Amino acid sequence: MEREQALLRIDMLRRLIEHHRWRYYVLDAPEVSDAHFDGLLRELQGLEAEHPDLITPNSPTQRVGAPPVKEFGTVRHRIPLLSLDNAFHADDLRAFDKRVKRILGEVPMEYSCELKFDGLAVSLLYRRGQFALGATRGDGHEGEDISTNLRTLRSIPLQLLVENPPELLEVRGEVIMTFADFEATNEERQARNESPFANPRNAAAGSVRQQDSKITAGRKLSFYPYAVGEVSGLPFRTHDQAMAYIHTCGFKQTPAFRLAPSIEEAVAFCLEWQSKRGEIPFGVDGVVVKVNDLSLQEQLGATTHSPRWAIAYKFPAVEEITQVQEITVYVGRTGVLTPVAVMTPVEVDGSTVSHASLHNEDEVRGKDIRVGDWVILHKAGAVIPEILSVLVERRNGQERPFQMPANCPVCGAEAMRLEGEAATRCTNISCPAQVSERILHFCAVMGMEGLGPAIVVQLHRTGLVKDVADVYSLRLEQMVELERMGPTLAKKLLEQIEGSKRQPLRQLITAFGIPQVGWHVADLLTQRYHDIEDFFRVSEDELQAIHGIGPSIALSVVVFFRQAETRRIVEELRNIGVQLRDEVPIRESETLPWSGKSFVFTGAMTTLPREQAEEMVRAQGGTAGSSVSRKTSFVVSGEKPGSKAEKARSLGVPILDEGQFLEMLTRVDEKKGNHHA
Ligand code: IVH
Repeated sequence: MEREQALLRIDMLRRLIEHHRWRYYVLDAPEVSDAHFDGLLRELQGLEAEHPDLITPNSPTQRVGAPPVKEFGTVRHRIPLLSLDNAFHADDLRAFDKRVKRILGEVPMEYSCELKFDGLAVSLLYRRGQFALGATRGDGHEGEDISTNLRTLRSIPLQLLVENPPELLEVRGEVIMTFADFEATNEERQARNESPFANPRNAAAGSVRQQDSKITAGRKLSFYPYAVGEVSGLPFRTHDQAMAYIHTCGFKQTPAFRLAPSIEEAVAFCLEWQSKRGEIPFGVDGVVVKVNDLSLQEQLGATTHSPRWAIAYKFPAVEEITQVQEITVYVGRTGVLTPVAVMTPVEVDGSTVSHASLHNEDEVRGKDIRVGDWVILHKAGAVIPEILSVLVERRNGQERPFQMPANCPVCGAEAMRLEGEAATRCTNISCPAQVSERILHFCAVMGMEGLGPAIVVQLHRTGLVKDVADVYSLRLEQMVELERMGPTLAKKLLEQIEGSKRQPLRQLITAFGIPQVGWHVADLLTQRYHDIEDFFRVSEDELQAIHGIGPSIALSVVVFFRQAETRRIVEELRNIGVQLRDEVPIRESETLPWSGKSFVFTGAMTTLPREQAEEMVRAQGGTAGSSVSRKTSFVVSGEKPGSKAEKARSLGVPILDEGQFLEMLTRVDEKKGNHHA
């Protein structure tokens, strides 16, 4: 293409891509399919390859990261990034209100109330609408230039989506990682023998301060704005107007916000979110109450470390004391042995906690947690149970230090910890724990919902199912031999198994449980490759050319398909008649029975782990989220439901119990394609 023409098209493509990015990552309401989006991106990559001089740092193609840096540059903040005064009780907020009014006198005023994000503070500078500089807070006056890393975050616009952007605009906010992504990141780290992050905030901070921005690009991080810093010529009068403007520029909005006409209403908002903090899918450690009027903010000014117009109400850290009864060792799908503390159950922040992962041997040593110890327990980010410390003074000498077993607790094979690695692994690749976890995962993803842990473990123990392909050779007379299995159930299961043979390739790729290949990656892969044979041929480089696939995923896929065992299983699946290619490669999620439906689970499920239930929802094309809104289609309420059920009730979102949910799944399976949920 001619240079002039290419320039026009490139500009157009960049705008389009940024628009769709905003629909997808900010509004959570995509207008086009991923395939269409990828098509635009590929076209842009093609044109940029033809005309490399037209590549700019803010091109959406640059979101994958750039060559590593040795050291970050220093950035001086022209308006310092201050910290906030803390309030721990409602009365602290009332005292703040008095101080404000003593300075301002009796003027009409409002407070804006929003969540306090528990992440890493950053400042983003836009010149004439173009992302120009991104920096950490540092000491408030000087931070580090982490522009390249921040460019990889899809919730940060590279160009503002407004017609006449201001000459200069500084957006301040927080980079966070959701609990779900935190857990996934730690699982991947464990599988790669890297030590897990202690909490989502550390994970976010560690990811953003990476010297290799390609690593940042591989982490799922989000940016939430909370203030405008330097700005030229924009006529906002209030904080809420500024935030609304920022949203039109292409940024996310705080998930909870209220304009409070009095401090009492601000107090009410703080207490309300204190009890509902578990509904937010990422860490929030309080509420920030701000004088909404910007000219009043200016009048109030700041002390050397914090503004007088804002205060942070900190949620009380909920800590409980309990006793460690036992430290068991759990063996996961990847063979990693994870010590888990089993404690006398205690109520922490609204739910009963009896187990906490201790991650690995070093973690247990570091905290010196022994069986019999009294410990302080909390929920990291209000969600994940974590032992903070041991009450050493309560020891009586009977406590027993933890010893990582020399053998796998499930199969008895030697457990090994390699030099320099944090994880201890079972050395037996056919370890039943690994195998039955893998089979269970396979069955769930392939839509054999009835094949839950109780049945799979039996099938494996009795030797009927030794690998995933064996599931397809099960016969009725074998099935009815199992405990608690009648002919009706057995028939139903066999129908499900039969039905699963025609699942799209994406399901199969996800079901294999290839390390680092979850639902989303399988989706990316099967948009490009439509036949399982393609995966045996593809190279790492070719895989990496797919937008969203980095070197470590590519390696993991290639290694998986290089194994003789994989070839053997695939051939068996082929002989049994499992569909191994997509006839018409379409975007499955648009045609699956639950596409467009969103589910939120609350409380404990009795027949299956929540992750599995969520996976089943996704297998039917639905989405599983963790916070309830008006747009939620169903809330599934298990035992001891939390505040989510209440919220669903108040919003009129239908609530299903576990039985109803499972029944609905079965119905979907029967009339796949024409279900009216
Ligand atoms: S406003 C002048 N709003 O909390 C300071 N800060 O503990 C204006 N933070 O440094 C800050 N969520 O990094 C504000 N909704 C929010 C926030 C927030 C998190 C961070 C921010 C600040 C720190 C103070």
